[in-house]
Amino acid sequence: MADVLVLDQIRKSYNVGTPVEVEVLHGIDLAIRPGEFVALMGPSGSGKSTLLNIIGLLDRPASGRLLINGEDTTDLPDAALTKLRGHTIGFVFQYHYLISAFTAAENVMMPMLVDRGHPDRQMEERAAELLDRVGLGKWRDNRATNMSGGQQQRVAVARALAMDPTLVLADEPTGNLDTASANAVFELMRQINRERSTTFLIVTHNMDLARQCDRIVEVVDGRITPARQPPG
Ligand SMILES: Nc1ncnc2c1ncn2[C@@H]1O[C@H](COP(=O)(O)OP(=O)(O)O)[C@@H](O)[C@H]1O
Ligand SMILES: [Mg+2]
Repeated sequence: MADVLVLDQIRKSYNVGTPVEVEVLHGIDLAIRPGEFVALMGPSGSGKSTLLNIIGLLDRPASGRLLINGEDTTDLPDAALTKLRGHTIGFVFQYHYLISAFTAAENVMMPMLVDRGHPDRQMEERAAELLDRVGLGKWRDNRATNMSGGQQQRVAVARALAMDPTLVLADEPTGNLDTASANAVFELMRQINRERSTTFLIVTHNMDLARQCDRIVEVVDGRITPARQPPG
């Protein structure tokens, strides 16, 4: 099977063409195999979010190649990138970005709605099934605002899984949560990884969580440091 993700000499600069142009990713090489559960670590400002945005096809690199499931995305037009993103990548952010006036179920349906244009019975069933899976079946019709931070983040995990993505990208998904909620959200992602072989790339500063991953990738100053195994 092709690697889920291959990065080949990815570079990225900000403020291109201005006096403050600065390169923040200096030639990143990385391959992630199907079903891997990988932690991305590194100091604040080292380029982790920039890298995740490029991997998630939300931003384009200045140079280098990015392959997703063996498909080279480098020369794809925006519309094709959007479609590929919608069908292969799920996102979980530090802040959940749920729509507060919508119910849990409606939030989980959003990616399917964006893809298909109108709600249908199958979407409702899929949302219900996913909310059951994240332990929130009873909260299906509750508005997102009425849920705790940990519950909201579990809704965000369900939403990320809505399109059955190959790869879930999570940028500090537990960064805003208390320890117990953080552990619950992390454990949920780990279980989903084992059940469905969904590949995860998770930015975290939490070494306790990172050591439970298959592998830790460390970025320092826009470069990946040599591979190391989770300690302990
Ligand atoms: N939109 C932007 N414009 C200019 N500089 C940016 C922008 N986003 C991030 N940067 C800079 O790029 C570097 C990497 O940032 P980021 O990818 O957010 O790092 P991390 O997620 O590891 O904290 C930092 O120096 C940051 O200030
Ligand atoms: Mg960041």
